[in-house]
Amino acid sequence: FSEDEEFDRPRLAAHGPVRVRVPAKINLHLHVGPSRPDGFHELTTVYHAIGLYDEITARRGDTLTLTMEGEGAGELSLDEDNLVIRAARVLAAETGHEPHARLHLKKQIPIAAGLAGGSADAAAALVACDQLWGTGMSRDDLAAIAATLGSDIPFLVLGGTALGTGRGELVSPILTGGHAWHWVLAVAEEGLSTPTVYKTFDEIGAQTNAGPPDGLLAALRQRDPEVLAAELANDLQAAALHLRPELQGVLDAGLDAGALAGLVSGSGPTCVFLAEDARHAALVAAELEARDCCRAVRTAVGPVPGARVL
Ligand code: C5P
Repeated sequence: FSEDEEFDRPRLAAHGPVRVRVPAKINLHLHVGPSRPDGFHELTTVYHAIGLYDEITARRGDTLTLTMEGEGAGELSLDEDNLVIRAARVLAAETGHEPHARLHLKKQIPIAAGLAGGSADAAAALVACDQLWGTGMSRDDLAAIAATLGSDIPFLVLGGTALGTGRGELVSPILTGGHAWHWVLAVAEEGLSTPTVYKTFDEIGAQTNAGPPDGLLAALRQRDPEVLAAELANDLQAAALHLRPELQGVLDAGLDAGALAGLVSGSGPTCVFLAEDARHAALVAAELEARDCCRAVRTAVGPVPGARVL
């Protein structure tokens, strides 16, 4: 994660279109604690932003509208429940601006996939409208607004690799010295609902395998993929496999294809595999594709920055 000057320069309202690119996330470590009185689970997680992107273009308008293309088009509601619209409205209310913008979302991050695509779009909408309206919010201000909209959204404003606590909304950057990790994603035919996965986690009394993330943090510093492979852990994996037993076959296929490790991403159903380098990732991806066990296979590098104006 590189220091980013964008958030430090003075802001003026933009007249032309504002394009913002936002990455997907995976969780390198996800420890799920007890459920809290507010219904959320206490988490200790290591978020990692990867180079699979959605893009939002914000233009001036007389009302607030959202159009979209790509993953989920025709399925996702574009009205007031959409997180993009909610994000724009909350930012307008917090800053005293009219919530007027024409927003267009170009989606490559699969929906309901455990990759935080919806949260990414909300983060992108905050950054795009902030620039369009010239609200002059600091990154911390945007992260605070983001936290009111969803647990993963502050991380997607930040990007990089970060420790997440609370319900996931409290994020602190982990500096990994610019090392690139190579991932292969197996995207499932059908999405999984995050609340259902957490509910299943409680119902099946899933064991927590992920302890404190100390081993993972040390592995990130060592920059050795074999060492990192042994430290990846996700407490929600058992619940995702309970709901989708066929994902075990996908995990096995990735390991057979030579991946160093495989795990379910977040609440699933996407399975993510660690490769040694770019060449190895391409080989694992080709082998997984040949096995025809999922809807799509992607390669991606991480960490990458969070939602940024292009
Ligand atoms: O915060 P977000 O809207 O992304 O959460 C979606 C759902 O996932 C919550 O309504 C809750 O059911 C579940 N969740 C949870 N504990 C967390 C984060 C999410 O139980 N820490």
